[in-house]
Amino acid sequence: MTILDILHFPDIRLRTQAKPVKQFDNGIKTIVADMFETMYKAPGIGLAATQVNIHQQIVVIDISKEKNQPLCLINPKITEKEGLEISEEGCLSVPEYYAEIKRAERITFTAMDQNGQRFEKEADELLAVCIQHELDHLKGKLFIDYLSPLKQQRVRNKMKKLAKKSKK
Ligand code: NI
Repeated sequence: MTILDILHFPDIRLRTQAKPVKQFDNGIKTIVADMFETMYKAPGIGLAATQVNIHQQIVVIDISKEKNQPLCLINPKITEKEGLEISEEGCLSVPEYYAEIKRAERITFTAMDQNGQRFEKEADELLAVCIQHELDHLKGKLFIDYLSPLKQQRVRNKMKKLAKKSKK
């Protein structure tokens, strides 16, 4: 398995719209395995293919403490949203930055597994937030897009500083 490079804001490639997966072959299984490996190593609770510069609709998630509940969503769609919840979010593409974001509290979603089998599920709390965050990535959207322009500028400045530091 390979650890993939994670793109960081403001990398323009994070703005790419991911395309639906049409062929469920070994190539897809390799991407999914590499994405899980990359997410666990980071460590993070969710990763969208967009973040590793693969522009297909693939998301991996594991919100469990023991890291033993891997969830892979291919061609995912949210079909119902209910309620509102504000919680603190972070993102592997925006390191060391956290902000409170408003999301739906409960969602119903459909997705395909690695074999192309479609399923439907409900999610709430952290899992619902995580799915909404990751699905945004597939549309080229970041959680900081929900912030005020002033806050977004602060994030930009912070990322510039971080990039300089990591080059040294
Ligand atoms: Ni993210």
